[in-house]
Amino acid sequence: MKTLIVFSHTWFKGSKVNRALLEAAQDVKDVTIRNLEELYGQNPEKIDVKAEQKLIEDCDRIVFQCPVFWFSTPPMLKAYIDRVFEHGWAYGSQGHALEGKKLQLVLSTGGPQESYKAPTIGELFLPLTAVGNYTGMDVAPIRVAYGCLTISDSDIQKLCDNYKKLLSE
Ligand SMILES: Cc1cc2nc3c(=O)[nH]c(=O)nc-3n(C[C@H](O)[C@H](O)[C@H](O)COP(=O)(O)O)c2cc1C
Repeated sequence: MKTLIVFSHTWFKGSKVNRALLEAAQDVKDVTIRNLEELYGQNPEKIDVKAEQKLIEDCDRIVFQCPVFWFSTPPMLKAYIDRVFEHGWAYGSQGHALEGKKLQLVLSTGGPQESYKAPTIGELFLPLTAVGNYTGMDVAPIRVAYGCLTISDSDIQKLCDNYKKLLSE
């Protein structure tokens, strides 16, 4: 399965967990990574909509990977969806580009799992599930790396192994 990872992190230089996950993903066959801030900085206007659409057309699965910032996504991921998922391409009577593709969310949080009882992570990220449903994608259960501020190196390694496994399926 060809996978496109659309990754966003406003402060990637200081990233530990997502950096490790991305490095692990690089080793997996048929995985392409788009690091939005490395490509476009913090400027949504720079997003190359046609190039991003082409990459999506060529993949079977889109992974949105990001840290949770204020119970939401970093702004560049939202901007990417706003711009790339255009009318007539992603939705509307002529917009079928995303139909049948898999959508996987991979999130990291500072808070521990116990702090996501109400609302749950699934409830918080319902808008992204709705994006997937609305555009005809097959939305997979969200994967979450909880408690990333105090996570041990061995637990990061386990996350990386699980991520590689997921991306190989
Ligand atoms: C501006 C900002 C907002 C954050 N908001 C949340 C939040 O709402 N919930 C949470 O669990 N963690 C929150 N965090 C913690 C990040 O999710 C955490 O640092 C990140 O997932 C760790 O991944 P990294 O090592 O790749 O940076 C926030 C961090 C920052 C800088």
